[in-house]
Amino acid sequence: MEERRELVVIGGGPGGDVAALRAARLGLGVTLIDERENLGGTCLNIGCIPSKALLDLSEHYHLAKNGFEKMGIRTGGVEADLGAMMRWKQEVVKRSTQGVSYLFKKAGIEVVRGRGRLAGPGLVELVGASPAKLEAKHVLLAPGSIPTAVPVLPTDGRQILTSTEALALEAVPASMLVIGGGVIGLELGSVWARLGTKVTVVEMLDSLLPTLDRELGSALQRSLKKLGITFHLSTTITGLAERKDSGVVLEANGAQGEQVRLEAELVLVAVGRRPNTADLGLAETGVLTDPAGRIVIDEHWQTTVPGIYAVGDAVAGPMLAHKASEEGVAVAETIAGKVGHVNYTTLPSVVYTWPEVASVGQSEEQLAASGRAYRKGVFPFLASGRARASGDLEGFAKVLSDEQSDEILGVHLLGARCADLIAEAVVAMEYRASAEDLGRIVHAHPTYSEVLKEASLAAAGMPLHLA
Ligand code: NAI
Repeated sequence: MEERRELVVIGGGPGGDVAALRAARLGLGVTLIDERENLGGTCLNIGCIPSKALLDLSEHYHLAKNGFEKMGIRTGGVEADLGAMMRWKQEVVKRSTQGVSYLFKKAGIEVVRGRGRLAGPGLVELVGASPAKLEAKHVLLAPGSIPTAVPVLPTDGRQILTSTEALALEAVPASMLVIGGGVIGLELGSVWARLGTKVTVVEMLDSLLPTLDRELGSALQRSLKKLGITFHLSTTITGLAERKDSGVVLEANGAQGEQVRLEAELVLVAVGRRPNTADLGLAETGVLTDPAGRIVIDEHWQTTVPGIYAVGDAVAGPMLAHKASEEGVAVAETIAGKVGHVNYTTLPSVVYTWPEVASVGQSEEQLAASGRAYRKGVFPFLASGRARASGDLEGFAKVLSDEQSDEILGVHLLGARCADLIAEAVVAMEYRASAEDLGRIVHAHPTYSEVLKEASLAAAGMPLHLA
């Protein structure tokens, strides 16, 4: 047995990485274990970052091919070089993961490659090529998540894919069936539709992005239809009917209970993710999980075993990189004797389709269900001078505020650059601003941010550029 470490982190994604950095900067000796070749977890290696690279590249291509000419820009022949796009994506990933390694080196964090598992309270064992045991005063579990399977549709990495393979195709498929109309399905479905694939999305519920405000899902569906994506809502896959060299045939129950046969060259299964907690030594150590397989934690991110903490996709809450990172900071501060805190009511959600979708706080459906009286202000991008100039006319800003106090309770955006615009709404809600506060703040003209100002003014009962 070697010397006792202060903090051993299992998992180098946005939760574990950030916790390690913050803890090291607070003076703790930190060791991080990850079995992946590069730091950064799913997010940097096979998730957020590579998907954003492909989303940007495919959107540039789509615009050059279909959007420029009407604005007076003739490009001649536009071609997508998929190999070069994939190399660009990998370079983005490489630079991002190298950045984390550099920060770790500077912060003096020890990185151990391998698979870590609990071997008891305060004890972590390394399994694999060079087994070892590490004693630790504190252990942080940040193992992330893995794709959820559809039992009748086992993925094979060749014709039936997870997001990992769908981010690394060597050729543009003629057709793709996307199972799941959530974030991954719509982002990756958009990438391939823009590059020329005939994309069909199958969603078992009656709307896209079912966890967000309903108007976002229905408006996004209209936009993505224009991109050529076909949707089957309220449709459940019941079986794999046939596998051919040229593709796969699936059977499904349609919205009216009718039998539907769907065929495509490739299938992407994107029906959610589940905690990556198998073989972590949880049960043997006394770390409890809930019925969904998530590690049970208290308000200080401590598991049912003192000294063992957990954050990110493996615990309750939305599976978002920024949620994991905030928890990472908070748990590091807690372990260092400070007061760690995460404001879960102001966690933004973003979907990087075009138009982008972004949301924070409560949806209209949640407010209605809780019986809270609210006001609503909506402003369309169509009425924004900035949006007209760039031709980004789709979408709206919706601000929901308390009927009595006018405090902002939710902001839901669809349109150009909403992924970045939502930050303003998060700040406003963090400081418990009213819709009138946000509406009266000076916004530069002409900017996309004015849609948020105008929607806030409308919610506050003071509409300006609305008839
Ligand atoms: P998701 O939970 O966003 O969407 C899954 C969808 O699949 C839901 O609409 C669900 O109703 C549907 N579904 C479930 N079972 C089905 C079935 N058998 N047939 C048809 N539809 C079915 O999950 P997704 O898209 O896989 O993403 C996983 C996680 O990764 C999410 O928590 C998401 O928030 C996160 N993520 C976040 C991103 C972002 O912040 N931009 C990007 C990508 C992923």
